[in-house]
Amino acid sequence: MTPDAMHATDLHQHIQTALDLTQPKSGAYCMPDHSAAPVGPCAVVIFGAAGDLTKRKLLPSLYNLASCRLLPDSFAIVGFARTEMDTATYREKLRQDLAAHATSEVDPALVQHLVDRSYYVSGSFEDPEAYERLAEMLRHVDQTHGTLGNYLHYLAIAPNYFAEAARQLYHAGLVRERDAQWRRVIVEKPLGTDLESAQALNAELRKVLTESQTYRIDHYLGKETVQNLLVFRFGNGMFEPTWNRRYIDHVQITVAESLGVEARGGYYDEAGALRDMIPNHMLQLLSLCAMEPPTSFAAEAVREEKAKVLRSIQPLSGERVLTHAVRGQYGPGRVGTETVPGYRQEPRVKERSNTETYAALRLSIDNWRWADVPFYLRTGKRLAARTSEIAIQFRRPPLTLFRDTPVEKLAPNQLIVRIQPEEGISLRFGAKIPGPSVRVGPVAMDFRYRDHFGLTPSTGYETLLYDCMKGDATLFQRADTIEAGWGIVTPVLEVWKALPARNFPNYAAGSQGPVEADELLARDGRKWRPIELP
Ligand code: BG6
Repeated sequence: MTPDAMHATDLHQHIQTALDLTQPKSGAYCMPDHSAAPVGPCAVVIFGAAGDLTKRKLLPSLYNLASCRLLPDSFAIVGFARTEMDTATYREKLRQDLAAHATSEVDPALVQHLVDRSYYVSGSFEDPEAYERLAEMLRHVDQTHGTLGNYLHYLAIAPNYFAEAARQLYHAGLVRERDAQWRRVIVEKPLGTDLESAQALNAELRKVLTESQTYRIDHYLGKETVQNLLVFRFGNGMFEPTWNRRYIDHVQITVAESLGVEARGGYYDEAGALRDMIPNHMLQLLSLCAMEPPTSFAAEAVREEKAKVLRSIQPLSGERVLTHAVRGQYGPGRVGTETVPGYRQEPRVKERSNTETYAALRLSIDNWRWADVPFYLRTGKRLAARTSEIAIQFRRPPLTLFRDTPVEKLAPNQLIVRIQPEEGISLRFGAKIPGPSVRVGPVAMDFRYRDHFGLTPSTGYETLLYDCMKGDATLFQRADTIEAGWGIVTPVLEVWKALPARNFPNYAAGSQGPVEADELLARDGRKWRPIELP
């Protein structure tokens, strides 16, 4: 069976299972899922094994997969990083990192199982000899653990090393696939800083890796609710008929954070909110929400439909950037009960920085389904609450019927897909307020994941790692979609660079964001949903 066909079956079974699972469960990462089989023999090579992503996300995810019996016995982890360390020290570190960062209490026997299969190679990512040592270690691992020469190389390293690491892997023969062997490489965002650099990076990767070996990860696609968008739209008959310009007035996609830039001032001050969140996470949300039904759940079918959405977005250039894009930067303020500094006072941020910590866009999709339905996107740091959601606002019904009643205005129906923190789906509609006269009040039908499925603590990387080991690229991004994402934001970046903001900081920490963002919607006679905890 091809990986695509395998995935189609898996996903179909997942949907069936999901619909049947109504009993609350809690505690462990995995729900009973008899359709998910362990991956085949392989070794995971973690570049940047001593780093933050590895200890906070990758190791806990591998542990969760092991605890669900989704990893095979013939499995190994090989850490590769500059830090000088031997395998014994690395094993001890792995034990400590798991104890500190696992998503639930660890089982010592399972930790030991992973520790016994873990190795370490130290070296510089630019040094060919380090890759020779890595190759030697992998030969040893293949012999000891029966991993059959199947390797997943996870580049959890600074982006300026991506192309170099891929090139070195190629020259060391570590990405060459022979016979039934597979070798894949995961790269993390940021994949470029604008269209040109993204194209250049893709071109470099293409010299040494085939597209089918390149797994571009976007951790938003690992979130259950994000994946559920496909099931929600295409596994139910009642929503799709209204999912178009005839019934939908507009869509609001919000990823609001209450935290500031924390320790990442150095990176963030170069990147800014637009680059950090929009070409990747937010456009992924938009494309899942706006895509046409794919012909199947096979990777290429899904990815092609998502790519079509991105290709249909009207570019914002020149004048339109001034009217369709808003930027902001937070000043000092209060988040909850805490008084917090402004962005320019954050560590490793330039004193007079003009980097935006908030971005909002009004995008239009030029196709039959979405013509004249604006998609408003907003994201920012230090906003009133941490909340990510997609809000679909339906058109208002005609008021004619209520002409002789006290009803002066009908609130539009809204469907809200909450991605975090309280994952769920909520449908807002009008109901008659009890009493002799006809009055309509807003009510909601709420589905909360935790009520039905309990809490399944996860890092969000489990499915992505599992899928990559299985060779299923559905939840990973193709080179062309990365470039399409940058194609959408690059004109905005150029205008913003040419016309530096004069009014920064323009929103207080802990607020709803800059007033210009409200004006963006007000010009269309619309309003943002408040940023608040559900
Ligand atoms: C990352 C960004 O990709 O996503 C961060 O670099 C941001 O700035 C983070 O905070 C948000 O992810 P999540 O999963 O916490 O919503």
